[in-house]
Amino acid sequence: MTKLFSTINYKGVSLKNRIVMSPMCMYSCMNEDGKVTPFHMTHYTSRAVGGVGLVMTEASAVQPEGRISPQDLGIWNDDQISGLKKLNEQIHTYGAKSALQLAHAGRKAQLDSTIYAPSATAFNESFKVPAEMTIKDIETTLEAFKNGARRAKEAGFDIIEIHAAHGYLINQFLSPLTNKRTDQYGQTLENRYRFLSEVIGSVKKVWDGPVFVRISTDEYHKQGNKLEDLIYVATQMKKQGVDLIDCSSGGVVPVAISPYPGYQIKRCDTIKQEAAINTGAVGLITNGLQAEEIIQNDRADLVFIGRALLRNPYWAKTVADELGHNIEAPTQYKRGWN
Ligand code: FNR
Repeated sequence: MTKLFSTINYKGVSLKNRIVMSPMCMYSCMNEDGKVTPFHMTHYTSRAVGGVGLVMTEASAVQPEGRISPQDLGIWNDDQISGLKKLNEQIHTYGAKSALQLAHAGRKAQLDSTIYAPSATAFNESFKVPAEMTIKDIETTLEAFKNGARRAKEAGFDIIEIHAAHGYLINQFLSPLTNKRTDQYGQTLENRYRFLSEVIGSVKKVWDGPVFVRISTDEYHKQGNKLEDLIYVATQMKKQGVDLIDCSSGGVVPVAISPYPGYQIKRCDTIKQEAAINTGAVGLITNGLQAEEIIQNDRADLVFIGRALLRNPYWAKTVADELGHNIEAPTQYKRGWN
């Protein structure tokens, strides 16, 4: 019996297996309106048909100025709810659960409008210099996260993931490399955590379902957050009732890294043990044995699969076959599944 294909429950949301479609921007919205397109319907529904336990949307912007690009998916206005609702109906029809990744790009927004960040420094020379956020800007953004969560609920998502990784807005507050503030949001780790803590609080005002948070567990820079800093952050999140830490890395400052199979798993494992919280492993997990090992050895509770699922929407079926496990076919495919 594989553990990869065992169920797991978060606040009453039961996932049929431990395989998550990792959030991946598709830059496919039309007319800069942030709405679901036929492409999104096909793209996400195919992975539900293919057998993943949880389909997570790409980074979905809580404010238009928080988009990475004008083609990002959005959750900043009520008109965006109906498309997401139809998408959820499809995902649920094929037996998967759904999650929305709530996001704000901060200084990594590539837009014509003014962009915002905790401090007024650009990511690199091809990015704009952001405006330093005032307390009023922070309050407005927290309200936007709350409204995003409310819309996610109306659209029928099962889980919310807060994107606090990859050098986007929340990560910019967390990291000493990007947060140069001298007020209550800067200087100490406790203060740098304040914004994320308030985002979680804002989401929880309107959302009582499971909350996952993606963080960068390594900033690949000597002056960046250390693993022990992230363990503190994870411990605080556990106290706030966060259900799972999705352990990614990088993106805070422009440094090239050389990823290898499972390159982020060791830190994911450490955070799981030290903060005693569920974790998700991600990053070059490409085959069944590798995924099974991670779950069986308690290094993570879920595996997030990105590029392997782009290449093969039936990755779950492929690895089930590899591990000698039968997964139920979608009704329409029953005659050709095995
Ligand atoms: C990503 N990734 C990503 N991460 C995230 O948290 N939100 C996002 O919207 C995106 N967008 C995105 C787009 C594309 C095209 C790729 C390839 C990746 C990162 C992704 O979720 C995952 O963490 C990495 O790709 C590493 O996992 P894999 O691909 O090695 O399984």
